[in-house]
Amino acid sequence: MNIINSISEMQHAADALRCEGKRIGVVPTMGYLHEGHLSLIRTAKKKSDVVVTTIFVNPAQFGPNEDLSRYPRDLDRDTRLAESAGTNILFVPNEKEMYPEGYHTYVNVEKVSEVLEGNFRPTHFRGVTTVVAKLFNITKPHVAVFGQKDAQQAAVVRQMVKDLNFDVEIIVAPIVREPDGLAMSSRNVYLSPDERKQALALSQSLDLARKRIATGEKKCEALIAEMREHITSHPSARIDYISIADATTLQELTALDHGTTALVSLAVRIGSTRLIDNALITI
Ligand code: PAJ
Repeated sequence: MNIINSISEMQHAADALRCEGKRIGVVPTMGYLHEGHLSLIRTAKKKSDVVVTTIFVNPAQFGPNEDLSRYPRDLDRDTRLAESAGTNILFVPNEKEMYPEGYHTYVNVEKVSEVLEGNFRPTHFRGVTTVVAKLFNITKPHVAVFGQKDAQQAAVVRQMVKDLNFDVEIIVAPIVREPDGLAMSSRNVYLSPDERKQALALSQSLDLARKRIATGEKKCEALIAEMREHITSHPSARIDYISIADATTLQELTALDHGTTALVSLAVRIGSTRLIDNALITI
């Protein structure tokens, strides 16, 4: 595995690969890799000849009161894991080169970025789309793999790629979970043992919704009320939102009609750790 830090070196490497007719797959990450990230690398491996994994804790997507300075980092471990999953090039740029003094350009996707996470984290997606656009221009991929764990992020990136005519195929890979159901996340390390147990409230409430839908409940308000009740029975849980929305537009639904694919998603703070989870449910 080749490790590249410089933007121009990465661009030259990508140009050379494209000249040889190689298909480039990119997996953008903020590091502290877990099995969820590794599954994306394995998917990229199947869809391309050369996998570029990027690691960059992107300051532009963190709000002023968010966890940028304490975001977990372990580059040695990440290097081993990225290589073991099949990464060919690990691109690890530094902040000064990504956002030098005098940096003034941001990519803003409207509408789909304004609801759900965007409502609670107003500048978050502007940071995500800006860095993803930069990473696309630097790694020049044919295909890019994102996780369903961040369902809205995937929808926002798809909208950007479509609107700005990026010549990149977007693949969204399923959520990887711990054996007890907790969605894997770099932020899970913040949880105390007791909070780790309470964090199961998220995946359990999604299972509850899935079961109630299977037994005929169609009203979103009723489904959300049941999810809310389950979550609030956990003393450390504070709900930011629970949503049942159209999976493409992310506009809220009132009832589940036959043939709809709904995105049931939620953000819950367990103590001071903010967790998100979701399920795609086709009725
Ligand atoms: P990060 O949180 O490191 O996630 C990198 C990628 O891994 C994202 O596409 C995310 O959806 C995916 N991922 C995380 N947990 C997952 C899980 N349990 N199962 C499947 N996929 C999972 O998302 C970001 O970084 C950043 O916003 C980024 C896109 C890199 C831009 O900075």
